[in-house]
Amino acid sequence: MQDGSGRITVQDLSKNFGPVHAVQNLGFTVHPGSVTGFLGPNGAGKTTTLRMILGLVTPSSGTAAINGVPFGQLPNPASVVGAVLEAQSFHPSRTARNHLRCYATAMGVPDEQADRVLDLVGLTSAADRKAGTFSLGMHQRLALATALLGDPQVLVLDEPANGLDPEGIAWLRNFLRTFAASGRTVLVSSHLLREMEHTVDQAVIISRGECVYNGHLDDLRAQQRSRVLVQAADPSALVTKLQGAGLQVEHLADGRLGITGSDSRTVADLALEAGVALYEMQDEKVDLEQLFFQLTNGQYASRPDGGPQETAVRGAETGSGGND
Ligand SMILES: Nc1ncnc2c1ncn2[C@@H]1O[C@H](COP(=O)(O)OP(=O)(O)O)[C@@H](O)[C@H]1O
Ligand SMILES: [Mg+2]
Repeated sequence: MQDGSGRITVQDLSKNFGPVHAVQNLGFTVHPGSVTGFLGPNGAGKTTTLRMILGLVTPSSGTAAINGVPFGQLPNPASVVGAVLEAQSFHPSRTARNHLRCYATAMGVPDEQADRVLDLVGLTSAADRKAGTFSLGMHQRLALATALLGDPQVLVLDEPANGLDPEGIAWLRNFLRTFAASGRTVLVSSHLLREMEHTVDQAVIISRGECVYNGHLDDLRAQQRSRVLVQAADPSALVTKLQGAGLQVEHLADGRLGITGSDSRTVADLALEAGVALYEMQDEKVDLEQLFFQLTNGQYASRPDGGPQETAVRGAETGSGGND
């Protein structure tokens, strides 16, 4: 029996595509009343997980439930969950209103609902325009309008901010926060923390299909650690020394080293012991996005494109990454 809670519960969820472990033993709960960000780099397994939640991909093991039951067992799924998945397409010569009316009919909701959701997403003035003439931002809004047709309790959005300009992102933020504030549930994915940083309260961060953080974004902010940045005469000798002392070291794109979990005095002393000259030293406060990169750097380390400028030198984190 569905429990009407508006909760999404993911337990021990895994999905393999042949040899690819897209999602591994993932577990988290998404509660109503807040916006939960499902964050991780491209290829981390976000879309696969969302598709399992929506009953579009069969898990290799584990369960995903909405209101306590798998999506397929929801008696009236459109009134429970609205979803926007990646690359949603519309008939280019159909107007926004007609597109929504087609879906409304298919879902058994009244025609008037089309105008209501157009208004909700700010597309009323474009109701009679053909979807094929829409900008990317309008396209995203129409997809969201479609998801809202059934007046759902839960919204699941896969990368809705992709391609939106700052104004569109601000609009989306306001919309999602208002939606959640009415006691409903929002799960929204993004590969860019920056896009979602001011939108989400809760964050589930995944890397290579595994959860690396699950909690309040504020708590993650509180964990921000500083780094010591140094320019060394012999970086590899210094890395060996620092790692021998149990410190975490990153190679920065500009040739410097970034040392986490230490202070400049300790680093200088270790450099002296290693006989490595230091040309420059700087204390740096790590921001939330850098923390995100660190949490997911096993995946970023192997990505020549799109990833950050820095690669981790800790451990053997040179896996295959992934693609969309
Ligand atoms: N249908 C599929 N067949 C094979 N591999 C897939 C399929 N869908 C996703 N993958 C792989 O699973 C991993 C996770 O992909 P995905 O869930 O799309 O990640 P994200 O949405 O976080 O970018 C990637 O390595 C991707 O290439
Ligand atoms: Mg994806």
